[in-house]
Amino acid sequence: MIKSIATLLFSLALPSLAHTQTVVDGANIYKRCAACHQASGAGVPGVYPKLGAQVARFAANPQGRAYLITVVSAGIMGELKIDGRAYNGYMPAQAGLGDEQVAALLNHVVGGVAKASSAKLFTTDEVKAVRAEHASAKPTETMKLRPKQ
Ligand code: HEC
Repeated sequence: MIKSIATLLFSLALPSLAHTQTVVDGANIYKRCAACHQASGAGVPGVYPKLGAQVARFAANPQGRAYLITVVSAGIMGELKIDGRAYNGYMPAQAGLGDEQVAALLNHVVGGVAKASSAKLFTTDEVKAVRAEHASAKPTETMKLRPKQ
């Protein structure tokens, strides 16, 4: 009995250990976003934008993709209008994320949260190139990259 419980626990623990050690887990990184944008991406109307259909549209073109990468890397501040609702908040730059982690995070945000499963995947190289171009963006400058909807 004791032996079989130990075997069971071991077999449960093993796959999750292997997962965290070998794969950059975008869903895990998203936990820091969920504090504001919510686990579902629904946001808090008027305070924290939803991460939904507009994010799926951004992911479909180069300018929108550069915008998403820069929002995460440099933060964003200024006036936004989403579904007729005004936002005028501040999102701090998400420090401590490498290029590979930002790519994994955005693949989760676009595919998992905004449910745009056919979107082209973000790559480490794409993130690196956009960050090099917009490395010193201030949160107010990020807003200028936002595609008109
Ligand atoms: C402390 C709260 C907070 C956290 C944490 C946060 N955000 Fe934000 N985010 C905001 C606010 C506030 C705005 C809107 C800023 C404004 O009004 O200018 C925003 C805007 C955005 C936008 C732009 C939406 C649009 O329609 O243009 C995206 C994309 C985004 N956040 C993604 C993320 C991701 C991904 C993470 C996690 C790495 C994250 N945010 C973490 C508060 C937060």
